Amino acid sequence: MKSSNDILHLGAYPLVRMRRNRKSAWSRNLVSENSLSVHDLVWPLFVQEGSEQCTPIAAMPGVNRWSIDLLVQQVREAANLGISAVALFPVVPAHVKTEGAEEAYNADNLICRAVRALKKESLEIGIICDVALDPYTIHGQDGLMDGDVIANDASVEVLMKQALCLAEAGADIVAPSDMMDGRIGSIRMALDEALFHEVQILSYAAKYASAFYGPFREAVGSAQNLGKANKFTYQMSPANGEEAIREVALDISEGADLVMVKPGMPYLDVVRHVSEHFSIPVFAYQVSGEYAMLRAAADQGWLDWKKTMMESLLGFKRAGATGVFTYAAKEVASWLMDHALHHTKLR
Ligand code: PBG
Repeated sequence: MKSSNDILHLGAYPLVRMRRNRKSAWSRNLVSENSLSVHDLVWPLFVQEGSEQCTPIAAMPGVNRWSIDLLVQQVREAANLGISAVALFPVVPAHVKTEGAEEAYNADNLICRAVRALKKESLEIGIICDVALDPYTIHGQDGLMDGDVIANDASVEVLMKQALCLAEAGADIVAPSDMMDGRIGSIRMALDEALFHEVQILSYAAKYASAFYGPFREAVGSAQNLGKANKFTYQMSPANGEEAIREVALDISEGADLVMVKPGMPYLDVVRHVSEHFSIPVFAYQVSGEYAMLRAAADQGWLDWKKTMMESLLGFKRAGATGVFTYAAKEVASWLMDHALHHTKLR
């Protein structure tokens, strides 16, 4: 960053006119510092049991839960559009949720069946699977409970089993989103011991205890399980930015290949901070509540859906994100394709 004294050397109005470079579309295109490409996109998808099932999510208009057969079609379309990866989240039937989250490492669970069905298609798209216990615990916490505390080390043992199970099913990337201490190192060792050296780890390294996850918890059905409880003893406080640097540093030292900051838009300062501090791909997650806000305002006619979505995604890139998780990925990919055909930029 140049100091304000440098302004003197760079000149000033009326010799300098910042608007000159903005005078035409080609010039604005020429000088644009950041851009959004379809390759930057990761599409989170909800998977449910059954066949030919597509269930809408009330707080996220345009987002559905898919049974595996329909999921395969959706992912095929995403691959054809050039989306880099999908991130899968299971809607786990209430009757298989337990205190010990045993279903998380059942090789025949919903998510493993989905991964195997997708892998059979040999699509050019990455499959990312969440590692956390909240879909599988009756209390909706990401780890196991011992009385009223979330037991860190006992949870890590189960997370290792879950990650192994996902790798065996064919997941390309396992993404621990649970925020237990030490889980990245333990999962890396468990994977390597089982000769899954090639399975990448995307750590949700700086994951905040956020109210913006509300619609997601409805979507996967963990909201009732969680009730009035919270995740404050493991997810980060929204008041802290420096702490994100320690979290990311630890996860890199434990073997993370990629890191995540989550949520997205309220935490762009953290994305910038992490991306400047470390040489590792940094992802941002435009979470369910962010999607819901834009969608709801657009549905009221108060905001332009396409323009506000594109502007917020470009904001992630400007902040230093390598890529973005967004529920709008498929729609965004088709907009990007249209604009590429017409040689125009969306902004
Ligand atoms: C659970 C998980 C959550 C999200 C992704 N994985 C919710 C939570 O931590 O309670 C939120 C994603 C979103 O809101 O879009 N481990």
